[in-house]
Amino acid sequence: MPNESTPRAEVIPQGPEPDQSCQLEKTNEPVTMVIFGATGDLTCRKLFPALYSLFQNALLPENFIIVGASRSELDHDAFREKMKQCLTDELREKEFSWPNMAARLFYRQVRFDSLESFVDLAGYLSLLEGQFSLQGNKLFYLAVPPSAYEDIACNLGRAGLAREEANWSRFVVEKPFGRDLDSAKQLDHSLHEHFAEHQIFRIDHYLAKETVQNILMLRFANSIFEPVWDRRYIDYVRITAAEDIGVEHRAGYYDHYGVLRDMFQNHMMQLLALCAMEPPSIFEADRVRDEKTKLYRSLRPFPVETLNDHLVLGQYSSGVVKGEKVASYLDEPEVAPDSLTPTYAAMRIFVDNWRWQGVPFYLVSGKRLAEKRTEIAVQFKQVPFSMFRGVLGGDISANRLILGIQPREEVDLTFQTKVPGPRVCLRSVTMHFNYNQGIREYNPDAYA
Ligand code: BG6
Repeated sequence: MPNESTPRAEVIPQGPEPDQSCQLEKTNEPVTMVIFGATGDLTCRKLFPALYSLFQNALLPENFIIVGASRSELDHDAFREKMKQCLTDELREKEFSWPNMAARLFYRQVRFDSLESFVDLAGYLSLLEGQFSLQGNKLFYLAVPPSAYEDIACNLGRAGLAREEANWSRFVVEKPFGRDLDSAKQLDHSLHEHFAEHQIFRIDHYLAKETVQNILMLRFANSIFEPVWDRRYIDYVRITAAEDIGVEHRAGYYDHYGVLRDMFQNHMMQLLALCAMEPPSIFEADRVRDEKTKLYRSLRPFPVETLNDHLVLGQYSSGVVKGEKVASYLDEPEVAPDSLTPTYAAMRIFVDNWRWQGVPFYLVSGKRLAEKRTEIAVQFKQVPFSMFRGVLGGDISANRLILGIQPREEVDLTFQTKVPGPRVCLRSVTMHFNYNQGIREYNPDAYA
């Protein structure tokens, strides 16, 4: 991160403001959204607030309903009240359209391992579809522990809810997709017994972050970065996803997975790929995926004998974060007292191809670190030879490009300039671009 005292040169956005065509496109197909795990943490923290903010900005289809489905016994009103409590102050402050949203919220108790329960759900959905003149399109979102994915997919299929005729049906899951290669393949196989590939969405919310999407734009919509984006000019790349929060109420899930499955195999690997992949010939999903796959195939496996040189794991102890005392991981509710689950990992990765030979990528992520900060730092090499060595000595700081992902959505390029004045002195300065500069439109968060 550039030193706070480093002088900054602002970058002024050029050209006209982006037009409406850059904004989120509204789809008007009627839809029934079913959220499994509707009383859980993900729904409350991310999904429902995102849906509500889309609704406020008139970006949901005019005709939709949301059906919460969970194991808890709740009636519709209790569910509505629960969802209302999930809205942030910011969402409440804006024009409050709650009654209109509440009228489209419903709840059904579902046991994920019971076919009977899904047959009941299917009947209930078709009743609601009749009442609201929906056309049978369904989106099933799994905000549940990964252990429930197979049961839900299977029972949806057996209850006829995966079927597409004049309508469509979609199945959305997040990570972790299995625990290892075998279980991931097994899960994939189970999903495919009931859903075709075009119906399955395995999503990673990092890919919906604006600043993450911007990585490919920065690299491939400019001609000045790519020529220096390789082993000849880059010393190392550091990708950091630091969080100040602990495991919160999610230890029941987290303690079985840990930071490597929670953050690395998904978010960190995606950031790595966007930074290091080759450009596809056209920006299309499958082509981008192919290039990412090539990159993953080029990753050098960690030698087991010298694993310690490549991977550091840790677990947070008690301490003080933002002036508040916080418990150690082992003292968090639902964590086994002798748990060895890592909450921190730092790894050094090498990509075995021509572009990246010998350039280390350092990937670091952990909970209960000093601050929330996700960024990619591209550290360039020092100048190969200094003609100023007589006056400045041999050491000149190398350039650094920082892509701030969050909460700082910024790009900083640090370089050397002469200090104004009669003597020959250098100082580092930073050219600074704030991603949201000059943008007034609604900027939906990653989940929206
Ligand atoms: C989730 C992880 O995928 O990402 C969480 O399960 C983590 O443990 C979260 O806190 C971080 O997301 P963000 O968008 O806040 O960086």
